[in-house]
Amino acid sequence: MPAVNPDPPASPTSAPEGDDDARLDTFEASKRRSDAIEKGLRENPQKYRVLTGDRPTGALHVGHYFGSLQNRVRIQNLGVEVYIVVADYQVLTDREGTDAIPNNVQELVLDYLAAGLDPESGKTAIFTHSHVPALNQLLLPFLTLVSMGELDRNPTVKEEIEAAGLTTVNAGMYTYPVHQAADILFCKGNVVPVGRDQLAHLELTRKIARRFNQRYAKKNPIFPEPEGLLSEAPKILGLDGSQKMSKSRNNAIVLQATADETAKLVKRATTDSERRITYDPEKRPAVANLLLMIGLCTGEKPEAIAERLGEGGGGALKNELTTVLNDTLAPLRARRAELAKDKKEVVRRVLSQGNAKANAVANATLAEVRAAMNMSYGID
Ligand code: TRP
Repeated sequence: MPAVNPDPPASPTSAPEGDDDARLDTFEASKRRSDAIEKGLRENPQKYRVLTGDRPTGALHVGHYFGSLQNRVRIQNLGVEVYIVVADYQVLTDREGTDAIPNNVQELVLDYLAAGLDPESGKTAIFTHSHVPALNQLLLPFLTLVSMGELDRNPTVKEEIEAAGLTTVNAGMYTYPVHQAADILFCKGNVVPVGRDQLAHLELTRKIARRFNQRYAKKNPIFPEPEGLLSEAPKILGLDGSQKMSKSRNNAIVLQATADETAKLVKRATTDSERRITYDPEKRPAVANLLLMIGLCTGEKPEAIAERLGEGGGGALKNELTTVLNDTLAPLRARRAELAKDKKEVVRRVLSQGNAKANAVANATLAEVRAAMNMSYGID
């Protein structure tokens, strides 16, 4: 039996009472709460359980590293319990084929481990949707707690449908924010690291938790209302300097790239013809993005790097980025290469351990949910 904390954490902050829409969220309010959570994570790591994850759609890249991976590792190392869902079912929201999934899952897990997520710490569980039946079963009651109108209004889902150019939208896509609520609530996760665009999803999870508790578990609330930990990391653009870094847009540096491959990719990055390097994200987004990446590696302010490079032009800028990025990623890449020697077995071990822990927690939560809903029938 894997170790399961028998007393999962409650909501980290008290939720306002009453009406669902009483808490009309401004970004500033979310930011204030996020800052309080950040302090709490450092002072009382045992009070928190963080849930986050990724769809296994390809190897992770530099944007993922600075945008989320580093932060997850930092949180784990504070002593916080971290659950990471490899959202394999969710892949099917915008595509049909599953041929690529096994390899993508392997690459993803290796990237996690190489970045420093460590199931051996006993704090971190990495699990797959498809192997945790009780988690998925929560989706059924949860779907009855949201209205079609609420699903319809979700701005992030709309944008994703548009971005993927889908002509027909399957119900999995439409309802995936509810599935994510199950991902978060099955383990009573009370903190979710989010980007700004994910706040609408988190708000829906909070509503589902609140409505479930109000409807079925008034005396002994089952679910916490999770809080968002807003990402501090700036959005990294791709090497084309015009859109988000992503493998499918062919503008990414994957974490597992070699130093030479990295140099070649950076050489081809978009800059402009001005010799003097300045940090101007509005007028010179491509140059600013490369400066930003250097800053993330060295801890310097992008303005200071620009000053230092002065009249060096795009060449100096790219040389600098290649050097500091390769230096920063070298330990990760070395670890990854080591793990990749035995990748099937390494990944199998991580997932069987993570899935066992997730299943134990999910089964316990589902039992509570059934009891609250008068569906226990004296059977286990
Ligand atoms: N949607 C996330 C992604 O595209 C993955 C994910 C699934 C997730 N369930 C989640 C993230 C719950 C946070 C919370 O990568």
